[in-house]
Amino acid sequence: MRKTARFILGATAAVLLIGGAGAVTTAAAAGHVPTSAECHNKAHPPTDPAVIGGCIVISRKLGNCIACHAIAGAVEPGNIGPRLVDIRKRFPDRAKLRAQIWDATVTSPRTAMPPYGRNKILTGKQINEVVDFLETL
Ligand code: HEC
Repeated sequence: MRKTARFILGATAAVLLIGGAGAVTTAAAAGHVPTSAECHNKAHPPTDPAVIGGCIVISRKLGNCIACHAIAGAVEPGNIGPRLVDIRKRFPDRAKLRAQIWDATVTSPRTAMPPYGRNKILTGKQINEVVDFLETL
């Protein structure tokens, strides 16, 4: 009897832990960039594609999007590009949002924004993750 009770308690704690971790990950992707600590957590690397995308966006070596764009939670963002907000309203069509990241020169030939897909700065998978993140903004 005692053993069973302990087992049930243990199992409940595990479920709570897993549930809690999931909630933290989702919250991180909702509306603002993840923290650098979250992105570089070696013990629990991010698994949510939107969080991974947020990490690409703030990484100076990968997206470096905040060199030009203000995004909620981003430290010392640039202002060469527009502030990234209400992305789902601005881009109801995910394909158009993806195209903007893949190669912004298609719609704005003189844009300062690098063509991340065309110039192979990011992989197709990374661009999908970036789009997943942008859609939380
Ligand atoms: C060198 C500056 C620069 C960098 C780096 C940059 N952008 Fe841009 N971005 C711009 C400019 C300028 C625009 C304005 C529209 C245009 O020229 O295409 C823009 C437009 C956008 C738009 C459309 C916004 C809207 O409301 O119409 C999105 C989305 C976007 N950028 C996302 C990103 C993401 C994600 C990254 C990183 C992977 C990134 N940008 C990196 C300069 C930049």
